Amino acid sequence: MNLSEARELFPGVRDQVYLNVSLNGLMPIPSRDAVMAHLEKRVMGGAVKEELHAQAERVRALVAGLIGADPVEVAITKNVSEGLNIFASGLDWKPGDNVVLCPELEHPNNVFLWYHLRETKGVEVREVLPEDGNIPVGRMIEAMDDQTRVATVSHVTFSPGFITDVQALTSEARARGVLTLIDSAQSAGSIRTDVRELGVDAISIGTQKNLLAFYGLGFLYIRRDLAETLNPVFVARYGMDLGPDAHETAIGPGTLDFKPGALRFELSNYNYMGLAAVEPSLELINSVGVDQIEPHVRGLAARLATGMVSLGLSVAGGEPGPHLAHIVAVGESGGGRHYSADDPAMNELFHHLINNGVNISIRRGILRMSIGLYNNEADIDRVVELSRDWLG
Ligand SMILES: Cc1ncc(COP(=O)(O)O)c(C=O)c1O
Repeated sequence: MNLSEARELFPGVRDQVYLNVSLNGLMPIPSRDAVMAHLEKRVMGGAVKEELHAQAERVRALVAGLIGADPVEVAITKNVSEGLNIFASGLDWKPGDNVVLCPELEHPNNVFLWYHLRETKGVEVREVLPEDGNIPVGRMIEAMDDQTRVATVSHVTFSPGFITDVQALTSEARARGVLTLIDSAQSAGSIRTDVRELGVDAISIGTQKNLLAFYGLGFLYIRRDLAETLNPVFVARYGMDLGPDAHETAIGPGTLDFKPGALRFELSNYNYMGLAAVEPSLELINSVGVDQIEPHVRGLAARLATGMVSLGLSVAGGEPGPHLAHIVAVGESGGGRHYSADDPAMNELFHHLINNGVNISIRRGILRMSIGLYNNEADIDRVVELSRDWLG
């Protein structure tokens, strides 16, 4: 499928300029239809467990394909934050171990879990400062020592939305025996996220943004041999290996035999409605191909950044460069405010855009415009035009 055919499947693009995939991605018609079909079955009492499980396995395989993993390395979770917590709490922490991160650029849900480990396990949290809006991989490497167990970053930050040089981090981390945990909330689906190429140990993903589906469903990749050394905090039947023919109510011989890889972290029934929604979205992403999607969304981001810079507006990172993903942040960032910009003029621009049918967010005091596979050049040019009108 090409990108303009794909756009036709998103009614959400028709009456607005939707630049908010970083909040949540538009859902395509096939996902809506699949959810309606799922609901109909539930309403009519026709949902069959075997079919629901078969769908879960198809989705697991699609996600594994998207990130270049083996399906047994992909656990089905509730959201990104749960995945990050499952990984962090599965490690055998010793007091004095440390974790390295850049809290200023992480989502709070990749910060609080480390503070919790500091309180409960005596883990040291080594915080590095950002560098011009980037997660400073070099500083993170410098901050590592023999007691560093984990380094964690967002692949693309939620604000200002720059791409992190994950490979530079993982190659150094691996050489030092440090595990890497990646928050992929803002990347997988739009930006190539291949676990072997990136060299990561674990990645957490949610379906509500670049996977174009619901809140409340996510995936946690953990490298298989590593996953099998981790200890789940919560344990239930779906994580247990009782053989292919055992019923889900079976207890077996009374031993604790985990499923392989990341599957040990699964507890019980999945979010089947979320799985119904994400299967067609993943098929759509597959059929267009991330190798088409990434240059498209980054190209549109470059067009938008260039347009805004040429109007004299302040764009995080300035002219397009390798930092630019599919997110363009406009305004001067000063603080941590989420729902109003630090600069009163930017609040005015925000309202001007919103009032003219442009759907964007404010994050950390700046306007965040985030581009999905369904956007096109006309969307971008409309936003630049409206901004020019406002300046005029
Ligand atoms: C970078 C990043 N990490 C984590 C999250 C939280 O995701 P979830 O609600 O799936 O836990 C978000 C959501 O905005 C995010 O942008």
